[in-house]
Amino acid sequence: MVYITRKERFSAAHKLSIPEWSDEKNLEVFGKCSNPNWHGHNYELWVTVKGEPDKQTGFVLDLRRLSEIINEKIVDKLDHKNINMDVDFMKGKMSSTEVLAIAIWDEIKLHIDKLNCKLHCVKLQETSKNSVEYFGE
Ligand code: NI
Repeated sequence: MVYITRKERFSAAHKLSIPEWSDEKNLEVFGKCSNPNWHGHNYELWVTVKGEPDKQTGFVLDLRRLSEIINEKIVDKLDHKNINMDVDFMKGKMSSTEVLAIAIWDEIKLHIDKLNCKLHCVKLQETSKNSVEYFGE
């Protein structure tokens, strides 16, 4: 089994807050990410797939196809957008890195399953100090 990772980047705005809570409570729980007037992050996204190399080509999959899926389904929808307001697959969800990583997994899984491989991990970095990994469970 070989694991292959494709890395992409996007920049997006968001806000973490619970409307029923006071600004103070939101600040206490969500820190700077609760800023009422939004703020942005430069996200880094790693998508790892696994499979066996094709006997003829030596490739597990066509990496251009993987890049197309990630860009079409994820990066184009998120880049320079407001995650809370503009992104169809994040409607009604908290825009935490954890929730976003799971949503990205759910968006690309079916498309990757059609290639000669399986989705293994979605890793998402919001800041250079914090990243999350999701393996589908
Ligand atoms: Ni934030």
